[in-house]
Amino acid sequence: MKMIITGAAGFIGSNLTKELLKLNYEIVAIDNFSTGSADNLSSVKNHPKLTTITCSVQDHASWADKAAEGDIIFHLAATVGVKKVFANSHDTFTNNLDSMTAVLDVAHKKECKVFFASTSEVYGQSKGVPFAETDPLSAYTTNQGRSAYVISKMANEVSCLNYNNLKGVPVIIARLFNVIGQGQRKEFGMVVPTFIDAALSGNPLTLYGDGLQTRGFCNVKDFLTAVTALIQEPKAWGNVYNIGQDVTTTIQELALYIVETSNSKSELVYTKLPPERIGKIEIHSRQPNIEKIRALTGWSPLISWQTSVNEMLTELDVKSHLGD
Ligand SMILES: NC(=O)c1ccc[n+]([C@@H]2O[C@H](COP(=O)([O-])OP(=O)(O)OC[C@H]3O[C@@H](n4cnc5c(N)ncnc54)[C@H](O)[C@@H]3O)[C@@H](O)[C@H]2O)c1
Repeated sequence: MKMIITGAAGFIGSNLTKELLKLNYEIVAIDNFSTGSADNLSSVKNHPKLTTITCSVQDHASWADKAAEGDIIFHLAATVGVKKVFANSHDTFTNNLDSMTAVLDVAHKKECKVFFASTSEVYGQSKGVPFAETDPLSAYTTNQGRSAYVISKMANEVSCLNYNNLKGVPVIIARLFNVIGQGQRKEFGMVVPTFIDAALSGNPLTLYGDGLQTRGFCNVKDFLTAVTALIQEPKAWGNVYNIGQDVTTTIQELALYIVETSNSKSELVYTKLPPERIGKIEIHSRQPNIEKIRALTGWSPLISWQTSVNEMLTELDVKSHLGD
């Protein structure tokens, strides 16, 4: 069985590629390097079981011949990150819709399975945290810019379920809640690497509003154990699962922890929400209910957000001393 990973040069995709190579799978890694980086895969680039294809997922003629019956296609390629999505609403929408269609079409023709990375953003401003898979989903088309991401992911979920239910393509939909860890970059508005970068350079850490928004930060290693547990469980196929850390923290507590742990002199600065965060798409409190995956596989996250932050601090501190 082969594993085909789209978005393999991204933060999660590169971690998944390395993990599945360790488990001795043959991997086909697809990325167009729109935000991904070759550096993320440099430690395995000459691995005999890794084939890397530089192309957009939509260009399926470049990769479909690698797919064969029983393979799993992990679809992680997407336009991601609040800043990038807000600035490129149209491209986000078409990229996320068209790449999903290409993956499902290839999976259908070649009799593959599909693991799709959806997002906790689909819950919108649901009132009752923690969010369960059975909760109503919400999104507002009028939130010009931001909505392109969440609505494309919701449409992707519908496409996945259509192919699963009507065309016999086994699909797992994973709703990811703030996955963090080594290798995550700050460029597109990810909060933990952004705060760490500010603290290490002595710049202020900017908090939006009162900083009391809550998030559960899931270490990418915990995410990978969830993925490997799910794909081995026959009953997981055809279903939707939350994957995330259910112990949450406020953004303010996160910022203070980063400043203290890095012995930084940086200050916390509170500002109004920037344009990309105003409106009904922004979720104040985000916490997954993980009972469904726990009941099926026994999985729950083992790594605290503090340990994840410590790992990222060490990595970025070492890089900053090397002038990277
Ligand atoms: N990181 C999180 O906390 C989080 C939360 C929810 C959902 N997700 C989902 O997980 C997936 C991976 O996220 P990430 O944080 O690793 O993001 P990332 O930006 O690091 O990775 C995405 C990768 O996809 C590639 N890509 C984009 N469009 C492509 C296309 N059309 N063809 C080929 N490659 C393409 C990019 O170059 C990049 O390498 C995404 O689908 C994202 O929506 C992530």
